[in-house]
Amino acid sequence: MKTMSLSLCLLVTLSATTWAGNWHAAGSLQCGDCHLQHSSDSRNPTTEGPYSILLKKNSINELCLSCHDGTNATSPDVLDPVVMYNSTPSQASAAGFFITLAVANQHGHSLGVPTIVPLQGASRSMELNCSSCHASHGNGNYRNLVEDPAGTGASISVVEGVNVYEKVAPDNPPTAGGSTVAFSRDNIGYASGLSAWCSACHDQLATNNTATTPAHFNSHPSSVALNAFPAPGHTDAAHWVSGTGEGFAGVGGIPRIPFQAPTATTFVTATTPQMTNEVSCMSCHKGHGSSNAKGLLWPYLEGGDASLSACQQCHNK
Ligand code: HEC
Ligand code: HEC
Ligand code: HEC
Ligand code: HEC
Ligand code: HEC
Ligand code: HEC
Repeated sequence: MKTMSLSLCLLVTLSATTWAGNWHAAGSLQCGDCHLQHSSDSRNPTTEGPYSILLKKNSINELCLSCHDGTNATSPDVLDPVVMYNSTPSQASAAGFFITLAVANQHGHSLGVPTIVPLQGASRSMELNCSSCHASHGNGNYRNLVEDPAGTGASISVVEGVNVYEKVAPDNPPTAGGSTVAFSRDNIGYASGLSAWCSACHDQLATNNTATTPAHFNSHPSSVALNAFPAPGHTDAAHWVSGTGEGFAGVGGIPRIPFQAPTATTFVTATTPQMTNEVSCMSCHKGHGSSNAKGLLWPYLEGGDASLSACQQCHNK
């Protein structure tokens, strides 16, 4: 009875506001995706609960991955191997992918493994699940990113149409083709916000006394423009804008890495190379993980021809 009235309350609250373009959020939150409605539902009780809070699976990671593991064609796949983006130019999603649950990931975030949070001032152990970063019932943020990931009482906004831009919205109701296009890396342009969001947990990289910008390898600078310093600075902004030569083409060249365009107001302005573009966490790391060490976008720690490609796109040394 308690659960029932809670659900009703929540349903009313959740229906009160609609966040455009968001899934699993008011307007598109389908309780039955994750909760059993009645125990009389036709279901296989060995695979679908009910578990605590009437969830269909025994843990949040298992619940979310029951759709997001590549078995459901309309759900963006976040678990290695990922093939759904093979038809897109970048052949990747914006966030990349995790590896098997409860296995320590050397290539990005680990799920369900208690670990010390690296690059965080206060030593803290944490076991990540999808809800550590995404609000299960949605919120006003891009990808429903939680407003207070480190639990410090912060309220961090990363809003679509303000901080992040999408070229096309996913289909509603979702389709396989629509999700492939909408969640591919090519569909996302960044203006601001995500570096601050990541720095909530990795606070030694925040713009503060422990990491005054610019401060590569004291810690890497983020949210600093390529032309922030007069020539000859550390960076080569003209090389970055031209998009040819070192880092981009020839042996070890890789596609232009993501960047922030702080004054962007549209997808086009957020993805047009300019000297005022800024380096951000997303320039170098995938939000979930990648096939490279530390979830990097290129094989920096592995060595080889491409090991300095991203550095060269901005620095051209
Ligand atoms: C029943 C299948 C299903 C389950 C279970 C499920 N999802 Fe999803 N999820 C989807 C689909 C389908 C989409 C794509 C919707 C669209 O096209 O916009 C999606 C989209 C998302 C997005 C992108 C949202 C946006 O607005 O851009 C996030 C983040 C997400 N899911 C996280 C989760 C988390 C966290 C859980 C577990 C608490 C979860 N999902 C459980 C099917 C599911
Ligand atoms: C994408 C998956 C997903 C969908 C869709 C979803 N829930 Fe939940 N719900 C969860 C998860 C996961 C939890 C566990 C708490 C947490 O960590 O978010 C939860 C917890 C709850 C709780 C108990 C805790 C609380 O927050 O009060 C209630 C009640 C609830 N959900 C009701 C609903 C209702 C009503 C809907 C439909 C309007 C809904 N949920 C849709 C995943 C989902
Ligand atoms: C909720 C807290 C939290 C947030 C938010 C967070 N991280 Fe992490 N991060 C962790 C924890 C815990 C670990 C250590 C365990 C692991 O490897 O998953 C970690 C590890 C990492 C690692 C090392 C991975 C490896 O292979 O050793 C990188 C890189 C990283 N995070 C980057 C980011 C970036 C970029 C963002 C923003 C998109 C971010 N983190 C947001 C908690 C967080
Ligand atoms: C450490 C934080 C973190 C954790 C844990 C996390 N996500 Fe994400 N997720 C992000 C960020 C950040 C983005 C947006 C990345 C971008 O746009 O560059 C994202 C994007 C997504 C997307 C959009 C598609 C894509 O690949 O870009 C989906 C779907 C999603 N997450 C689902 C999940 C599910 C399901 C889980 C649990 C299995 C999960 N996430 C765990 C941080 C996280
Ligand atoms: C997206 C562009 C971008 C990428 C990629 C990038 N940098 Fe930087 N880097 C910058 C900016 C912007 C600054 C700050 C401005 C300056 O110092 O001239 C900077 C500063 C530096 C500095 C000077 C730090 C200081 O404290 O003065 C070094 C060293 C450096 N980067 C090395 C690297 C290396 C090594 C890589 C590859 C692992 C790399 N950068 C990748 C843009 C980038
Ligand atoms: C210019 C590229 C670049 C940028 C920008 C960048 N990183 Fe990194 N990051 C790296 C590289 C390279 C490594 C691995 C080598 C190292 O630890 O120095 C790394 C390592 C890490 C680690 C793992 C440290 C450990 O001890 O395992 C975390 C966590 C991390 N970065 C988070 C972030 C966050 C959060 C941001 C944004 C605030 C960010 N990085 C911005 C290149 C970058």
